[in-house]
Amino acid sequence: MKKSVNDILLLFLLSVLCLTQKIACLTDTLTATQFIKDGETIISAGGSFELGFFSPSLSTNRYVGIWYKKISIPTVVWVANREVPLTSTSGVLEVIKPGLLVLRNDTNNTIWSSNSSTSVPNPVLQLLETGNLVVKDGNQEDPEMFQWQSFDYPTDTFLPGMKLGHNFVTGLEVYISSWKSFEDPAPGKYTYHCDPTGYPQNFVKMGSSLQFRTGPWNGLGFSGVPSLQRNPIFSYEVVMNSKEVYYTYKLLGSTSTRFTLSPTGVGQRWTWDNQTGSWIIYLSAPNDNCDSYGLCGAYGGCDTENSQICGCLDKFSPKYPDKWANRDWSNGCIRNVALDCQSGDGFTKYSGFKLPDTHNSSYNTNTSLEECRRICLKNCSCTAYSTLDISSGSGCLFWFGDLIDMKVISAAGQDIYIRMASSESVFLHGSSGKKGKMLVISLSLLLGMVLLGSLNLILYLRRRKSKFQKQKNA
Ligand SMILES: *[C@@H]1O[C@H](CO)[C@@H](O)[C@H](O)[C@H]1NC(C)=O
Ligand SMILES: *[C@@H]1O[C@H](CO)[C@@H](O)[C@H](O)[C@H]1NC(C)=O
Ligand SMILES: *[C@@H]1O[C@H](CO)[C@@H](O)[C@H](O)[C@H]1NC(C)=O
Ligand SMILES: *[C@@H]1O[C@H](CO)[C@@H](O)[C@H](O)[C@H]1NC(C)=O
Ligand SMILES: *[C@@H]1O[C@H](CO)[C@@H](O)[C@H](O)[C@H]1NC(C)=O
Ligand SMILES: *[C@@H]1O[C@H](CO)[C@@H](O)[C@H](O)[C@H]1NC(C)=O
Ligand SMILES: *[C@@H]1O[C@H](CO)[C@@H](O)[C@H](O)[C@H]1NC(C)=O
Repeated sequence: MKKSVNDILLLFLLSVLCLTQKIACLTDTLTATQFIKDGETIISAGGSFELGFFSPSLSTNRYVGIWYKKISIPTVVWVANREVPLTSTSGVLEVIKPGLLVLRNDTNNTIWSSNSSTSVPNPVLQLLETGNLVVKDGNQEDPEMFQWQSFDYPTDTFLPGMKLGHNFVTGLEVYISSWKSFEDPAPGKYTYHCDPTGYPQNFVKMGSSLQFRTGPWNGLGFSGVPSLQRNPIFSYEVVMNSKEVYYTYKLLGSTSTRFTLSPTGVGQRWTWDNQTGSWIIYLSAPNDNCDSYGLCGAYGGCDTENSQICGCLDKFSPKYPDKWANRDWSNGCIRNVALDCQSGDGFTKYSGFKLPDTHNSSYNTNTSLEECRRICLKNCSCTAYSTLDISSGSGCLFWFGDLIDMKVISAAGQDIYIRMASSESVFLHGSSGKKGKMLVISLSLLLGMVLLGSLNLILYLRRRKSKFQKQKNA
């Protein structure tokens, strides 16, 4: 509580300073002859965002950052000198020729600077109403011509209008990274990316290790995040073209919303509640055991409603049954009957799942599901297919290799058609398969193993019987 009183005091002091030192406060722009000192700020034209110096709670270090101007809880959305704090209040921020934003300390040493590969005659710094801080030439309005913008180098906050993803022309990837802790804005362990490889899906990573995957974009949302739906607060989309692939969103009304990555790696979307004067968590991920990337291994299906969490997909069995029974699911599952591409495979429909990792996928637009099946069947390494865009019901998404990171989402999961040996496949095109069909081993460990043993015996006897019948028929 003391903390927030201090923050309010600080904001109050800032306002007083603004009133007494007119020049910097009443503008959204700095030219190359101006600068702001600690205590001075610039404010975007519509008064939504403010740029200045601040200290995170419980810290005396000084940082240059951007925060919401109209929101009563101090909420920093961007930090310049994340890794190089000022230790006193004598910092100075200015824009210099040929177009760099620099931060100097007491001894006039540059401790942080923006960069740019181009130069302009009349560089200015402007804080836009979107919260984007830009360096540009004079009255330049074309975002393509900005020399530098904070939206290209976000910290832990993904704001409306930012493009989270890859620009193939400039080679720039825009992603967000967590703070080290709530006291230290230096880059922490976690990052959040829109990864276009195969087909776009978003990831929380810890270093290079995948922690959480949203599932592929499906035209309406992400396959594994059913709680992200059309709403009156913001609209969102994944944009894909030859120049860039990115995830973005925009505000639909006057409610503020932002997406952040916490120091512990949780992606959280917040909306501002004007009535109570607080930020409310709108959705957050990962939020259950099954959001842990690849927990159940290849061809495993994760089900939060199952006490054993992991099960094998129907027509699959644990690769190592004893390890599986010991809750080591990392080796996943294998087909009960091996594929035999030469003598013809088929497909089985599985419904109600978060679609598997599309890192090794390829896709077609504008193709019918029937055509998807034909194309996948022709290529022996194609292991599964699904509809690409569920809003139009067209296009195909193809998987090559093992299917990883599937989760049961009964209500909102998607259909996927998995390649099976012809003896196993029932092609139920158009009919409705059972939701989240899985072989689920849900008894206690000991009983589980016993059950598995007898199940295998039954399967074995059945197979013998059908073989026997085939021989009889022949
Ligand atoms: C730092 O720079 C400012 C203006 O550029 C100048 O007035 C001041 O004397 C300099 N201070 C030091 C310690 O060099
Ligand atoms: C200013 O920055 C320089 C370079 O990083 C550093 O050597 C110097 O100690 C800093 N001065 C103060 C007073 O922090
Ligand atoms: C600017 O700096 C970032 C890292 O801070 C780097 O990735 C990027 O390539 C630099 N851009 C230019 C134009 O030098
Ligand atoms: C939020 O509340 C303030 C007063 O508490 C009011 O001035 C402002 O218009 C409200 N904003 C919205 C978007 O309702
Ligand atoms: C993609 O293919 C590579 C190479 O075969 C493999 O190492 C990797 O595990 C595959 N990734 C997925 C998600 O299937
Ligand atoms: C996609 O399909 C629609 C209707 O079937 C057709 O009019 C359109 O030309 C197709 N587009 C492409 C790029 O094939
Ligand atoms: C099957 O698909 C893979 C991945 O797209 C491709 O590399 C391979 O050439 C295809 N094989 C055939 C026989 O078309």
